[in-house]
Amino acid sequence: MQKIGILTGGADCPGLNSVIRAVVRKAMIEGYVVTGVKNGWMGLVENDMRVVDLRLTSGILDRGGTILGTSRLVPPLDIAKMDLIAENLKRNGLDALIAVGGENTLKIGLDLYRQYSLPVIGVPKSIDNALSGTDYAFGFDTAVNIATECIDRLHTTAESHHRIMVIEVIGRYTGWIALEAGIAGGAHVICVPEFPTKIDDICSALKARHKRGKTFSIVVTSEGAKIEGYTLSIKDEERGNSHHVGKVGELIANLIEEQTGYETRVSVLGHIQRGGTPTAYDRITGTRFGFKAVEMVVEKRFGEMVSLHDNKMRSVKIEEAVRQHKKIDEELFKLAQAFAS
Ligand code: F6P
Repeated sequence: MQKIGILTGGADCPGLNSVIRAVVRKAMIEGYVVTGVKNGWMGLVENDMRVVDLRLTSGILDRGGTILGTSRLVPPLDIAKMDLIAENLKRNGLDALIAVGGENTLKIGLDLYRQYSLPVIGVPKSIDNALSGTDYAFGFDTAVNIATECIDRLHTTAESHHRIMVIEVIGRYTGWIALEAGIAGGAHVICVPEFPTKIDDICSALKARHKRGKTFSIVVTSEGAKIEGYTLSIKDEERGNSHHVGKVGELIANLIEEQTGYETRVSVLGHIQRGGTPTAYDRITGTRFGFKAVEMVVEKRFGEMVSLHDNKMRSVKIEEAVRQHKKIDEELFKLAQAFAS
């Protein structure tokens, strides 16, 4: 019987288990067995895998995280690791490999497809919705809903105490979560990485609200937002990414207090946005993605990634997805700015 391998790599997010469950179900229909690779690409380096079947994937649809575990590996991998991955894929008789992940996971998959002709199919996961080539990457809807609920909760305490509340959300390179949760949560200022913000503009918006008798305000910022004149680059060489978590929220809060005198607090939502139950939309999308990925295995569309276009399942070359980050919708950003005072 032919075998499909599946791995989940990089940051986890709600919806990963929906994909795994759907892959197993569709693989069964198509006459494949599924091998689950443990802890992302690391499982192929270490030859750590097990069969995943209906029994193992039963009851996981509503569970966050990933039953396969994950790890962060940053491309390009060294030759020794790439060789081991190729060797273990063959040794385990995998006829195809479904790699579920974001930019880094997919880039490694693309390297293996190009340099070793490995039969890799990608599934887009990006909690910050930053992958190109697809309208949507699962995990994002859940994160937006969690962030919105948190903003609602912080709204009431901000109002009671007449404070400015700065809320920092996920989004290293793109501001999708800040934008959508900010609009849904009625934020008064939204800062995103795509458009650097002037601290003077933030403070003017807050002062204008105070003039109108509004003695509290909500500022939502992406972790990767840029404040003109300030540099916050904390390079995490090991992970190959710059991590700003907690820094920009603090910076904005301090500057607001300094320049306006308004009492300000900061809340960094961080990993809360990545945990727990997936929304119905992420469960459905994850299920559609898993089904489509197995169809692509059957059609041998290796080197391609499942994608969603106009709510239809499609596929694109992996290179298209990882070439550049998908920036926020400018029209939506302009709309959000109309509420900035
Ligand atoms: O990519 C999602 C993300 O949550 C980033 O926004 C954040 O900087 C990073 O992952 C945190 O990574 P880790 O799981 O390694 O702490």
